[in-house]
Amino acid sequence: MKTEIKPLKSINGEVAIPGDKSISHRALIIGSLAHGTTKITNFLRSEDTLATLNILKAIGANIELTNAKEVVIEGNGLHSFQEPEDILDAKNSGTTIRLIMGVLAAQNFYSVLTGDDSLKKRPMKRVIDPLSKMGGLFFGRKQGNYAPITILGTDDIFPIFYSTPVASAQVKSAILLNALHAKGISQITEPYKSRDHTERMLKYFGANIEEKGTTVTINGGDDLKGKEVFVPSDISSASFFIVTALITENSTLLIKDIGINPTRSGAIKILKMMGAEITTLNLRYLNNEPVCDLLVKSSNLKGVEIKGDIIPTLIDEIPILAVAASQADGKTLVKDANELRYKETDRIKAIVNEFTKMGIEIFEREDGFEIIGKQKIKGNCTCESYNDHRIAMSLAIAGLIAENPININDFDCVNISYPQFLDTLNTLR
Ligand code: S3P
Repeated sequence: MKTEIKPLKSINGEVAIPGDKSISHRALIIGSLAHGTTKITNFLRSEDTLATLNILKAIGANIELTNAKEVVIEGNGLHSFQEPEDILDAKNSGTTIRLIMGVLAAQNFYSVLTGDDSLKKRPMKRVIDPLSKMGGLFFGRKQGNYAPITILGTDDIFPIFYSTPVASAQVKSAILLNALHAKGISQITEPYKSRDHTERMLKYFGANIEEKGTTVTINGGDDLKGKEVFVPSDISSASFFIVTALITENSTLLIKDIGINPTRSGAIKILKMMGAEITTLNLRYLNNEPVCDLLVKSSNLKGVEIKGDIIPTLIDEIPILAVAASQADGKTLVKDANELRYKETDRIKAIVNEFTKMGIEIFEREDGFEIIGKQKIKGNCTCESYNDHRIAMSLAIAGLIAENPININDFDCVNISYPQFLDTLNTLR
């Protein structure tokens, strides 16, 4: 589907953002591994989270979508799954395939996981290496690096002490979900701290788990107990409208119930460093996750350097931060962000190609890019989304401040994380 985005002057009012994608995946998986009832409210119903839900159902989990934003799970514990009758399809979702690998490796049966063309090009060895050391047997294309992945699980899982070469919450979470089934202590250390939703939720469900710096320690074998989970609104989805309010004149936006976990909210920190007027209100904790309301006002932004240990905390927001940088005074440099090349598409290439098309001056680096600020976006062009939801939405926000409309191809990929994106945008117009 090709979508036309027309320019807009300002946005004002309150916007409701759907539930957090990372937390929705984890609530489904951890709720299915627990004993008893788990009720998930403000669940994100999107293509990615439905991929996780359908895989869990196919291995026998007792899950029901009770309404558009609510899921109820009747869990039967760590060893309650059954061998699936068919191949399991993670579709476009890296979180689904990698976290589910951690679960399946600890089940004493045969299973095969696959995904769409994008997922089949994304590296899986980073997960398979540690999981193989813990007892599961894995086979995949290209020396075991790419899906389809065949798994021969075992109920005899060994604990592990492991240093991950990349800061990745998907890798860390796969190991943690596997280590939950091991008798004894496992420890995972990352080069930089990635999002810790799995650690927080496992603790909330009763696991014996501790975080210290970039190391997580878990003592496996204990039962988890079903819980009520409220999924905070997704800060990654909110960032598109936060940046819109900042770069348009006379805008004021209120966003409620946003997840503000420090391992996820690096973009807010960077935007504040750029001069953004963002006020945090009503800070509180819900199921171990910090949640707040954010008040955002039009601001004069200035360019900054984005690098080092903040990168994993804003990795999904780099495309939309690039849009903010194009409207800032001075240069913005993004480095140490090589991981962007292994997302739903090579996001460095996608940003550089499409920004250039729109008339923004941007230079590619191996591990990021450099943008020259305060640029006029000419628009009047057709951009590619590369079937990547975050690229599609970032280009749409750039289109709002362009001098002429822009078209974006394959815009329906926003259904991966934010099916209501265009409706929300139209309400704000
Ligand atoms: C996610 C982790 C990140 C992020 C992705 C969601 C998660 O990926 O980019 O969108 O839910 O664990 P990596 O773990 O590969 O960095």
